[in-house]
Amino acid sequence: MATPKKITITGGAGNIAYSMAWRIASGAVYGPNTPVDLSLLEIPTAVRAAEGVAMELQDSAFPMLRNISVTDNAEKAFNGANAAFLVGAKPRSKGEERSDLLAANGKIFGPQGRALNNSAADDIRILVVGNPANTNALIAQHAAPDIPAERFTAMMRLDHNRALGLLAAKIGVLTTEISQLVVWGNHSITQFPDLTYATVDGRSVLELVDQEWINTEFIPQVAQRGADIIAARGLSSAASAAYAAVDHMHDWIHGSKGWVSAAIPSPGVYGIPEGIFVGLPTIARNGKWEVIEGLEISPEQRQRINANILELQEERAAVAHLLS
Ligand code: NAD
Ligand code: LMR
Repeated sequence: MATPKKITITGGAGNIAYSMAWRIASGAVYGPNTPVDLSLLEIPTAVRAAEGVAMELQDSAFPMLRNISVTDNAEKAFNGANAAFLVGAKPRSKGEERSDLLAANGKIFGPQGRALNNSAADDIRILVVGNPANTNALIAQHAAPDIPAERFTAMMRLDHNRALGLLAAKIGVLTTEISQLVVWGNHSITQFPDLTYATVDGRSVLELVDQEWINTEFIPQVAQRGADIIAARGLSSAASAAYAAVDHMHDWIHGSKGWVSAAIPSPGVYGIPEGIFVGLPTIARNGKWEVIEGLEISPEQRQRINANILELQEERAAVAHLLS
């Protein structure tokens, strides 16, 4: 039997965790034959609710779920963790931008970064989901000087999946038939879902859809999808977010089938300053995210990428006091 792995979810009583925990427990991260110890971190007032989630998980009798623990102590929750999903944070309400959450949520991620630094396993992989995810990842990573920066990531996979879903519906193919799509930048309204390099069955997507549709429907719809879901559901996306988070972690460990979008600390590619967490075209291989380098960037792409750089730099400046 494979070596057991410990996976921590913060915000264990929340909506996203309620979808995510069942996929994780069934082996969707490390594989169906790897025993999993699941740790749910919550704030003290939500520990009881997280205990209810743990009861339900136990009642699902997953063959590989060895142990479930619930705590409000971050060091305990991350102790020996191999994978951590940092989900616990306030969601935005209708009319708010994700960056409006920075003041309330930013302060969660420094202490959690320090706790990860002190207690996680050497092979820890961290995915920040709580919004604004890119800058929260920056805060957590700065608080964890002993963990290599590339072990921290923020989620662009939901945006990537949204772009795939919308495009597949438009041209009448399966999402799996689409390759080389990327969402650059910030998980915000400024994000840039980019079809420049995308292909279907070896054919450029640009031959199948017109630029007018890309600019007036595709890009805005992908970028506004989170707000549209809040307007329709009265709650932010949960199952799709959980799905994307698990897929991100799975691919990081096992490798991706092709290009996927992931926010990683910029290694200084495509004129993007080093260190900010930015959505890039990547392939996960040998346990690492590799950036697809050498792509030609047009002036129109450059403008959209630069808008994301600017926004991420502004967010970084707004939390400068939290960057230890
Ligand atoms: P939710 O309100 O249902 O659950 C959040 C949970 O986090 C709550 O149970 C709360 O008690 C807990 N929490 C708050 N502070 C905590 C802390 N310091 N430590 C541990 N737990 C803490 O919200 P949700 O729908 O699960 O969404 C969670 C976050 O994910 C939000 O910020 C939301 O905007 C974000 N989100 C991001 C994406 C993405 O693509 N990056 C997608 C969807 C949602
Ligand atoms: C999403 O994209 O669905 C999440 O980031 C939630 C939100 O606030 O839009």
